[in-house]
This record gives sequence, structure tokens and C-alpha cells, in this order.
Amino acid sequence: RFEQSLRPQYLAQYIGQQKVKHNLEIFIEAAKMREESLDHVLLYGPPGLGKTTLAAVIANEMAVNVKMTSGPAIERPGDLAAVVSSLEPGDVLFIDEIHRLNRSIEEVLYPAMEDFCLDIVVGKGPTARSVRLDLPPFTLIGATTRAGALSAPLRDRFGVHARLDYYDTESLTDIVVRSSKLFEADIAPQAAVEIARRSRGTPRIANRLLKRVRDFAQVRGNGTITEDMASQALEMLQVDPLGLDHIDHKLMMGMIQRFRGGPVGLDTIAASIGEESTTIEDVYEPYLLQIGFIQRTPRGRIVTPLAYEHFQMEMPE
Ligand code: ADE
Repeated sequence: RFEQSLRPQYLAQYIGQQKVKHNLEIFIEAAKMREESLDHVLLYGPPGLGKTTLAAVIANEMAVNVKMTSGPAIERPGDLAAVVSSLEPGDVLFIDEIHRLNRSIEEVLYPAMEDFCLDIVVGKGPTARSVRLDLPPFTLIGATTRAGALSAPLRDRFGVHARLDYYDTESLTDIVVRSSKLFEADIAPQAAVEIARRSRGTPRIANRLLKRVRDFAQVRGNGTITEDMASQALEMLQVDPLGLDHIDHKLMMGMIQRFRGGPVGLDTIAASIGEESTTIEDVYEPYLLQIGFIQRTPRGRIVTPLAYEHFQMEMPE
């Protein structure tokens, strides 16, 4: 896929997340000096911030292969056995959405992480027996939107915990400029800033908006992405100045109009607007919390005065 080529391949090309990047640089260099596999890494944070990209970058820096899978894809111990048995020494095993891993799989994963061996049961009934499989040393990179959803024993088996945060506008601008270069598209600096501002701190969104703005500039203009082209395209895409989309609006309006701004419980809001609670909790709420539009209280979520101001709504008494 072309998208693939937008992803940075090495840490030096990876923009933003300075703290995580500097820490990883050290851990990677140390592991290489000792000629060991890198310790297991847990990456957590909201979707679209580059967890998968970072896993591929880590593998590249370690000069090893990466095998990618996800929590829901590993249904039975045999599924796990199939992926790990193809690993070569030092390889990276990436498990996305690791919080959705079955408990029964977790149990098999512990010895794999700690002692690089796999105990699996072969056969059924009276002839069933346990066989132990030796594995090469490998690095498990787990990614999750919610570190809190991971069981403590699993979380504790990761030697490196790295939290990815929303990107600031400067970093996102740099990403947009970098992606434009890869697209061989001309972009005005202010156009890049405008796209960055409306990307809810998320590179995946910035790159998606860039592609649509580029389409617009190509058809309606001469291909150059000017500030004016960017503004018009973003308006057409109905991305508001803060990057809030249709579902953010539905969520905020639901809280304001049906629950007088709260406090209201997550499941109640979710049901009232017909979205999954987990989607709201993992995807929408973190950014709205970050920009200070909602707050969590012991009695539920509340809408802040800042949000009323943004939506030009009257705050109830
Ligand atoms: N493309 C997507 N995320 C990126 C990042 N963090 N750095 C550089 N390019 C990116």
C-alpha cells in the first residue's frame, strides 16, 4: 500500500513523541551493544498516534523482522504457537489491541515472555499431553489504547512502558510537510499548519486530511496546496476548527441537550447516541478530555464552560 510509504522507517525520521523516542534510542542501543533481544515493550495511548509505526521502527532499528498480529486474531493457544514458532532470534512480535487477548492465551504468553518457551496441549481427552516448545529470544511489542484494561500480571511482564500522547501542532505540521514531500505535492507552510490544527493531535488524521486537501487542490486549483485551498477543502470536509467530527458533535450535543451537561455515565451517553461505550472511551473521550471540553467526575462526565463557549450554547443554571 502507498500509505505504507508515509510511515517513517527509523527513529531519526519519526517526528514527535520526544520522550518515548529518546528512551527507546537508549534501550535499543544498549540491547544492540549486548547483542541481546530488546526487552518487551508496551505501547499505549489513543488510536492513530503511531503505535504500529513505532513497532516497525523498533524492528528496523534492531535490524530484525516483525510479525504483526492482534489480540482478537489469536483465538486459541495454537494460533499463538503458529506465530511464535516462525520467529527468528531477536525478532519482534507485535500484538495490537493486546487488551483483547483471551485470558487462556495470556497464560500461554507468560512463559513465552519470561523464559522463551511455550507449553501447549496437544490431543484431546485421555491422550492429551503437554509439550514444551523452545522459542528463540524475541521482543513482544504490545499495543493498547488502554493500559488500564490489561491484567496486572501481563502489564508487569513488559520491561518498557511507553505512553504516546497527542501531538502538538508543530509536530503535526512537520508530519504534514514531510508527507507532502513524499507525495511530491507543493504545500504552503500556512496550509500545513491549518491541516495540523484540525487533526485532533493525530498523525493518521493529519495524513488523511492532507490527501483530501491535495485532491481538492488538484481538481479546483493547479495542484499547489495554498492556505486558501486548504481552508476551502477543510470546510467542505466539515472538519471544525478544532478538528472535531460528526461523532464528537453528536456526543457533546447529546450531553448538553439530553443531560443538561451532566454528570452523566459513559454507558448512558453511549446508549443515547447509539455508539459503543468502548469506542467513546478509547477514541472520542480522550481528545475531548485533552482539550478540556469534558471532565470526569466521580458521578460521571460533565461538559465544561469552555465547550459551551465553543458551541455557542447557553450553560444551564
Ligand atoms: N507519519 C505518521 N506518523 C509520523 C511520525 N510520528 N513521524 C513522521 N511521519 C509520520
